[in-house]
Amino acid sequence: MTKPRNELSSVGESILIIDFGSQYSQLIARRVREAKVYCEIVPHDVSREKIAYLAPSGVILSGGPASVYQKDAPMCPSWVYEMDIPMLGICYGLQVLAHQLGGSVVPSDRKEYGHALLHQIEGSHPLFKGLESSIDVWMSHGDQVEQIPEGFHPIAYTENSPVAVIGDNKGKIGLQFHPEVIHTPDGKTIIENFLYSICNLSGTWTPKSFIEDSIARIKSQVGESKVICGISGGVDSSVTAALINHAIGDQLTCIFVNNGLLRQGEPEEVVNTLKSNMGINLVYSDATDQFINKLSGITDPEQKRKIIGNEFIEVFEKESAQLGTVEFLAQGTLYPDVIESKSDVSKESVTIKTHHNVGGLPEDMKFSLVEPLRYLFKDEVRDVGLELGLPENMVHRQPFPGPGLAIRIMGEVTHDKLDILKSCDNIVMEEIYSHNLYRDLWQSFAVLTDTKTVGVMGDFRTYGNMVAIRAVTSEDAMTADWARIPYDILAKISSRIVNEVESVNRVVYDITSKPPGTIEWE
Ligand code: XMP
Repeated sequence: MTKPRNELSSVGESILIIDFGSQYSQLIARRVREAKVYCEIVPHDVSREKIAYLAPSGVILSGGPASVYQKDAPMCPSWVYEMDIPMLGICYGLQVLAHQLGGSVVPSDRKEYGHALLHQIEGSHPLFKGLESSIDVWMSHGDQVEQIPEGFHPIAYTENSPVAVIGDNKGKIGLQFHPEVIHTPDGKTIIENFLYSICNLSGTWTPKSFIEDSIARIKSQVGESKVICGISGGVDSSVTAALINHAIGDQLTCIFVNNGLLRQGEPEEVVNTLKSNMGINLVYSDATDQFINKLSGITDPEQKRKIIGNEFIEVFEKESAQLGTVEFLAQGTLYPDVIESKSDVSKESVTIKTHHNVGGLPEDMKFSLVEPLRYLFKDEVRDVGLELGLPENMVHRQPFPGPGLAIRIMGEVTHDKLDILKSCDNIVMEEIYSHNLYRDLWQSFAVLTDTKTVGVMGDFRTYGNMVAIRAVTSEDAMTADWARIPYDILAKISSRIVNEVESVNRVVYDITSKPPGTIEWE
């Protein structure tokens, strides 16, 4: 289904990160990007041709779990050394440098995990420009460099690592510690020094320059052809659409399927922003009844998901068939997905990802992919969205699941239950917004349980629905903690729901973290 990416000859200033399987490789990339330098993470066995479109000014070798003296330990390809550009080896990366350039690496007698105090030997190495002569660093290694390769000299040491930093006079440097983690407080400066002082980069990679490059790239990839893009209302698909629209205008058509499972006012807001404010060619397909009818009588969460996914495909195919010949499909794939799908992740997590994609479309839809965000992290996507003029509330929108409110209604989904949940959810969001909590929370929403409880209102006994409030903090949805929302805000939400939403007479707050709970209730 996928054609190769249409690369331009070069992307401007860049750094190549050779990945040896460190859990921190993405973090290294984040730090480099924060310093406004574009970088890509590639596997350690990448060929030179594969990255021909990059003209890197420097290479970073990541850490990794192997030992260089083991059989089949991953090494840095020889073409990297032949480029003769600055290199920064981090932890295992240092050991690779030392091992491949003629030094030796051995198991340490005193393994080092955690904090260490690093002392510079020479006072003025450019890597440590602006820093004290002794700094706090974070270590995590069981091997150490015993013999320094020829042409290298020691630059710094710690109590347990006599060779903690080495370098030659051609910009090759090895660090035994991890500058990318927050536990190395001066790590940001060290990485900036490598980029600016050793690789002589100037840090020109900004949302604006990214947009300019992407526009040129999209134009050259799609030429005069038509592109379609499924819109969910979320950040990734909206920014993808806005970016492609900037590049090729009317050649892009976005399809927004309203499955009836969106929150109050959401379909109108999406249409308004994309169509009226951004002038994007938008096909709006209100398939609410089709979805709700198909969900009739269905109570199993996974079955709900399946039905919603299938219906989406059906509506999307029907709408796209009316657009004539379309060669390209735009998708809001992000860099972490690209990196994860290349690495050795479990089958299960791959399935979860595809499931979470907007409209996992069938293989027999013959499109080439346009994925302008495939090298960006989420916060970079947000910056690009703002630069493109998308409204703040769309760019910083909390994640919302593809199956929408269907998995926040326990049991069968009906029009009536949807109306109840939308009203409750709207109250939750109004209060979260007005108390400035929205950006602090990963997600916050209401759940309509299938429990009815007894209450008393005025002089009357009631028998009504119980609604749960779920609000969590999280970094990546893999783990989450229930948010400590102040009691008076919870009280306000509760009293507003019971007073304003007929048929709800009880509100509870979910105080389960993930694990063992999940964020959604279904
Ligand atoms: P859980 O409930 O598994 O959710 O802790 C983790 C994150 O994924 C979202 N989620 C989904 N997103 N389709 C989606 O597009 C789904 O079926 C789905 N299920 C959960 C959830 O909102 C949270 O952000």
